[in-house]
Amino acid sequence: MESLLMRDDQSRSPEEQPRPDRPRSDCPVLLSQRLVLRAPHIEDIDALAHLANNAAIATMVARMPHPYTAKDAADFVRRTNIGEIGKCVYAITKADNGEFLGCCALEPNPADDTILEMGYWLGEPYWNKGYATEAAHALIDMAFRTREWVSRIDARCRVTNIASRRVIQKCGFQFQGTGMVGNLAMGGTVPVEWYRLDRKTWLSLKSWGEMR
Ligand SMILES: CC(C)(COP(=O)(O)OP(=O)(O)OC[C@H]1O[C@@H](n2cnc3c(N)ncnc32)[C@H](O)[C@@H]1OP(=O)(O)O)[C@@H](O)C(=O)NCCC(=O)NCCS
Repeated sequence: MESLLMRDDQSRSPEEQPRPDRPRSDCPVLLSQRLVLRAPHIEDIDALAHLANNAAIATMVARMPHPYTAKDAADFVRRTNIGEIGKCVYAITKADNGEFLGCCALEPNPADDTILEMGYWLGEPYWNKGYATEAAHALIDMAFRTREWVSRIDARCRVTNIASRRVIQKCGFQFQGTGMVGNLAMGGTVPVEWYRLDRKTWLSLKSWGEMR
């Protein structure tokens, strides 16, 4: 059977050979204890549209439309797959059953590509189970381990966003200051806190665990 399949494939021209979806080589799939972080794909659209259509999420992230439609979700998946949104955009999924929980991303700072900006959101049914912190840990470790040019990772949250501030703290980020950033769903700017994790702090936190 195997040899038949091989013969069948070999009889096709290179253009006709079936090609698996090519993963983005610079954004590896990430595994953690309970999660798989992978590129968003078409099968995520229904869950994405359902979970993202929530003002409690849209008003906390910078660029999510509200209301959020299936067309918005399809557009998001298409644009992330061609690298139009951010550098590494991940679907956060459950390792045991593949369920789509939300998204997270690392985006280079346009003024200095040694600095990455981290963002994340989860569908409301999945809040307060430690998933965002687990996903953020996986993202941060990947960035510092696989990209030697990355010096710092930034995170921003609205001053009212207690849960996100806590995630940021649990990742070891340090407070830098406050500012105003645009918020699409709010149609204006909102006050935010700005945090930063530099490579040396990350290394120190990682080795601290090993010393116990
Ligand atoms: C922010 C968000 C991603 C957090 O996800 P999560 O999986 O619930 O986060 P975690 O469970 O890893 O951690 C949340 C922490 O906040 C704490 N927390 C949540 N709400 C809280 C509240 N009202 N008061 C005090 N602490 C609160 C939790 O207790 C937990 O801290 P702990 O582990 O010390 O107990 C999620 O709430 C979300 O998607 N919100 C909307 C979008 C958003 O805000 N994105 C971030 C933009 S900066």
